[in-house]
This record gives sequence, structure tokens and C-alpha cells, in this order.
Amino acid sequence: MRTTVVAVVMVMLCVMMVDADTKPQREFSLQRFAGTWYRVGLAYDSERFVPFRDKLKVSQGLVTALPNGNVNLTMWDATPLGCQKKTYHYEKTNVAGQFTYFSTRHNMVKDITVVDTNYSEYAVVLKHKVYNREYTQVALYGRTQTVRIDVINKFKAFALSQGFPREAILTPPPAENCPAARSG
Ligand SMILES: *[C@@H]1O[C@H](CO)[C@@H](O)[C@H](O)[C@H]1NC(C)=O
Ligand SMILES: *[C@@H]1O[C@H](CO)[C@@H](O)[C@H](O)[C@H]1NC(C)=O
Repeated sequence: MRTTVVAVVMVMLCVMMVDADTKPQREFSLQRFAGTWYRVGLAYDSERFVPFRDKLKVSQGLVTALPNGNVNLTMWDATPLGCQKKTYHYEKTNVAGQFTYFSTRHNMVKDITVVDTNYSEYAVVLKHKVYNREYTQVALYGRTQTVRIDVINKFKAFALSQGFPREAILTPPPAENCPAARSG
């Protein structure tokens, strides 16, 4: 009986600690967050992703704020197969800065939290599975293809604090011509 109570209290403490670390940006403003971002950092500790780590390039994203508070995101990823454009739809939750989306790749609902942003320079975004709250990715976005070294270092420290090993924390080089520059 006693051990059960202790176990429950410990589980609750763990949940609270995780929550404390991953609260969304205070007074998150989607209007200010909209526009172009570059994914300049990625912490992703998936076995299947290991062979792709050194092929990763900076991706470009366009965040469109919809009138109902949801988000359309267009991403351009430079891959060995060329520049690939993908669109995503994120639905707002009752917590500002937190969104859910349906991952067709993993066939489940996941959620996304904008943990920290100053809108004009950088954003740290957490992506995780809703139900077990297992963190799968932390991304650093910049308004430009390169960001200040102290912003990078803060991102790395945050990813380490979330349990990512150093080799899973990537800061890829810029992409070339992705999306392709308009000609004519
Ligand atoms: C958002 O995405 C949906 C689905 O892809 C699309 O139908 C809609 O036109 C988009 N809205 C805007 C404002 O881009
Ligand atoms: C927020 O962004 C601006 C650049 O627009 C930068 O000068 C400032 O130092 C940033 N603030 C923090 C806390 O990093």
C-alpha cells in the first residue's frame, strides 16, 4: 500500500517536471509567429534517422496563421532526391502556443509546442506524441539561415536537458536553391 502511494507520487512528480520544462512561450502570439522561418537546428534521436544525419540541410518553412487560430505550415526540405515541398495543418488547442496534428507517417495524433521564441530571431519548438508525452524532436528555427552562436548554444543546452545525446543534436548547413529561386 505504502509503496503504491510512493510510486504514484513519484510518477506525478516526473510528469510535473516534464511539464515545467516544456511550457509554451508565455502570451504566445500566432500573428507575430507567422511568416518565414528556417529550421537551423534539430535534435532527433531516432535509429532510422542516423544515416541521414550528415545529409540534413536547413529547411525553410512558411507559417500561415488562419483566422480560426489554426496554422498551415509549408516546408521545403533539401533531400538527396531534390527539394521537396510539404504542407502541414496544425490545429490549435486551448493552450496558446500548443497545437496538434495528425502524422500520416506515424498514423497518430502528435502535438507541437512553441517553447520559446522572440518572434524576430529564433524559436524552439518541441514535437511529441500526445498520449505518452514522449519527446521525439526539438527544433530550432531562425528568421534567417544562420543564427547567433549563443542562440545555438542555448538550443543545444535545452536539447541535452531533454535527454538527447550530443550526436543527435544537429545544426545543418544551409540549403542551396531550396525552394528554387524564381527565374524570369
Ligand atoms: C490551408 O491549408 C488547407 C489544406 O491544405 C487549404 O485548403 C487552405 O486553402 C489553406 N489556407 C491558407 C490560408 O493557406
Ligand atoms: C531577440 O531578437 C533580436 C533580433 O531581432 C535580438 O537582437 C535580441 O537579442 C533577441 N533577444 C534574445 C533574448 O535573444
